[in-house]
Amino acid sequence: MTSLIKNTLTITFYFILSSSLLHPSNGAFSEEISEAISMKRMEKTTRFHFFFHDIHSGKSPSAIKIAGTPDSSLFGDTFMMDNTLTEHQEGTSKVVGKAQGMYAFAAKNEPALLMVLNLEFTQGEFNGSSLSVLGRNPVMVDVREMPIVGGSGRFRYASGYALAHTVWFEPKTSDAIVEYNVYVKHY
Ligand SMILES: *[C@@H]1O[C@H](CO)[C@@H](O)[C@H](O)[C@H]1NC(C)=O
Repeated sequence: MTSLIKNTLTITFYFILSSSLLHPSNGAFSEEISEAISMKRMEKTTRFHFFFHDIHSGKSPSAIKIAGTPDSSLFGDTFMMDNTLTEHQEGTSKVVGKAQGMYAFAAKNEPALLMVLNLEFTQGEFNGSSLSVLGRNPVMVDVREMPIVGGSGRFRYASGYALAHTVWFEPKTSDAIVEYNVYVKHY
């Protein structure tokens, strides 16, 4: 009888000791999510292909100049966009999302943009999820690479890169269509 009580107490003591070692107190500044949960998560890579319509002309432009210097230099010119993303090059093709954000001429000696934008998807399994892009876009280069720095919804913890290639440009209006290939790692 005494030995049974002793054994029970010993087991209880070890249980308390091991559980307090495994689980830091609730007041801890940081706590790692348990391995069992992180091992269940499978990292995936998803590729997106779409066309970005940067339209300055017409009654309802999707990109407008919001700041800039009065001189003829492009340096400092800043635009806000709500550009449509389509499945094919034609503007009439299926809309798959929007590119919302800003770009600014950030180099003095070449047309190189600072891009700060969110790609919001409106179709399929990624409807409502968005990717955040922050990068350098030297527009005269054939293929420009910009980092994907994060995301929301299905893209929580996302990272990756976007490759942009201009397929059409109208110098009079600055209207452009840019093909995007985006590679994103997410869970
Ligand atoms: C995308 O999500 C919105 C908001 O939940 C919904 O109204 C819309 O119908 C969805 N579109 C598609 C194509 O699933």
